[in-house]
Amino acid sequence: MALRLGDTAPDFTAETTEGTIKFHEWLGDGWGVFFSHPKDYTPVCTTELGRAAKLKPEFEKRNVKIIALSVDPVEDHKGWINDINETQNCTVNYPIIADPEKKIATMYDMIHPNALDNMTVRTVYIIGPDKKIKLMITYPASTGRNFDELLRVIDSLQLTANYSVATPVDWKNGEDCVVVPAIKTEDIPKKFPKGFKEVKPYLRMTPQPNL
Ligand code: BEZ
Repeated sequence: MALRLGDTAPDFTAETTEGTIKFHEWLGDGWGVFFSHPKDYTPVCTTELGRAAKLKPEFEKRNVKIIALSVDPVEDHKGWINDINETQNCTVNYPIIADPEKKIATMYDMIHPNALDNMTVRTVYIIGPDKKIKLMITYPASTGRNFDELLRVIDSLQLTANYSVATPVDWKNGEDCVVVPAIKTEDIPKKFPKGFKEVKPYLRMTPQPNL
C-alpha cells in the first residue's frame, strides 16, 4: 500500500557510500530528508546532489540528516561522487544508498513505471523525530528539485511541531504565521506574547514565534 503523510517511514538496512546503515537508527532522534534519484551519472541528479552537499550546514542547523538513494551499486555511486565533487565544486558529505534490486525504492513507492521505466522518480520524504512522514513530494526526472523549498518546508514543519502555528501561502522564514485552529482565540495572548491580529475568527496571524 502506498505511503501517506503520518505513516511511519518504513525501516530498512541498506548499503551506502558511508557503509551499512539501519535507517531508523541512523536517523536517531532528529529529522531526516530521504530523496531518490533516477540513476547514477545523470545530469540533473548530478546538480541536485551537489546542491544538497553545499546545503548540508543548513540542514544540520535544523537538526536534519540527509540521505539519497539511487538504484545503482555502491561502487558506481563512489565513481559518480568524484564527478559530482568535480563538476559541482562540492564534497558529497552524506550517504547515498545503493539499491540495485530496487527493494527500498519499491518500499517507498519511488518507482512510477508509467512515468519512468525501471528507475526511481524524484521523490522526497521529510521524516520527523517520531519517524512519521511529514511531507512527500514527487517530481519527474526531468525537473530538478528546489532545495530552498525543502528548507522552507522544514522551517514550517518545525514551527508547527514546536509552536502550534501553521504557515500561510508563500510564507518565508521571518514572516507572520497562522495560529492553528485548535487554539481558541481567548487562549492566544498567553501562548503568543508577541501579539496577534484577528483578521477573521478563523484567521489569526501572529509574528513568527521563534525569532
Ligand atoms: C537526470 O538526472 O538528468 C535524468 C535522469 C533520468 C531521466 C532524465 C533525466
